[in-house]
Amino acid sequence: MEQKTVVLGPIQVTNITQRKVTFLGGTGSGKTTSLKMLALKSQESKVHTFVFDALNVIYIEGFNRILITKKSKEKGKELGQMLNKLSHNEGVIIAFKDLLQEELAIFCDGLFSTWIPHDDLLCFDEIQEYCPRTGGQPAFEIERKIRTGRNSNIGFVFTSQRAAMVKTNIISLTDYLVILRTTWRNDLDVIEELLGNLNKEETKGILAKIQTEPFLNGFSIDFRYFDNEGKSSQ
Ligand SMILES: Nc1ncnc2c1ncn2[C@@H]1O[C@H](COP(=O)(O)OP(=O)(O)O)[C@@H](O)[C@H]1O
Ligand SMILES: [Mg+2]
Repeated sequence: MEQKTVVLGPIQVTNITQRKVTFLGGTGSGKTTSLKMLALKSQESKVHTFVFDALNVIYIEGFNRILITKKSKEKGKELGQMLNKLSHNEGVIIAFKDLLQEELAIFCDGLFSTWIPHDDLLCFDEIQEYCPRTGGQPAFEIERKIRTGRNSNIGFVFTSQRAAMVKTNIISLTDYLVILRTTWRNDLDVIEELLGNLNKEETKGILAKIQTEPFLNGFSIDFRYFDNEGKSSQ
């Protein structure tokens, strides 16, 4: 299998269809923009790229856009069958308009029960809409796909404005964590937990940096550079 590397500023995602990239940060910090840029670069690298747009705000040059409205909320399985037959390899945005969170989860469960993606990149803006930690309906078929994605050579990109609102088992699978402006204590606690794999000094330093200079620029951590003892293996 050919390995594709995608570069986005300081972040070099090697073998992208085997990786998970997560952008965390407050509203307006640049998560969606980063996701769009990564999606575009991935598609340009000939990785077939799909973007899930729960807020109906994403447009990317050269990508086809499929709009799911209330009228088609029960047609998840049909879209899955359609995507299985897709012969051309243009990027695809699946945008949702006016669907309640529960309707979105049901649609995606249908879609991912019939659709068998492989060798693709799947990008979810505002992942907590699909995999909420509490107070919503999780799309279990998406979770399953995220857990088993590497077997089908599928990479994932997630964004979320609130780390604490995303299911822990999803966020903990991330290979690359990009932290943009984050202020809520609960969200910082989740990030601290994620950084638990690194050694203590490293964790303290990173958390201090998040709240100071790169606070506005964003801060990226590549978890593959750390071995099990938390020491840098680069
Ligand atoms: N790196 C950047 N440089 C300049 N402007 C940016 C950058 N990233 C995002 N923006 C602008 O900031 C605004 C919010 O970005 P967006 O990606 O929608 O944030 P989020 O998804 O985190 O709410 C947009 O108008 C976008 O064009
Ligand atoms: Mg956004």
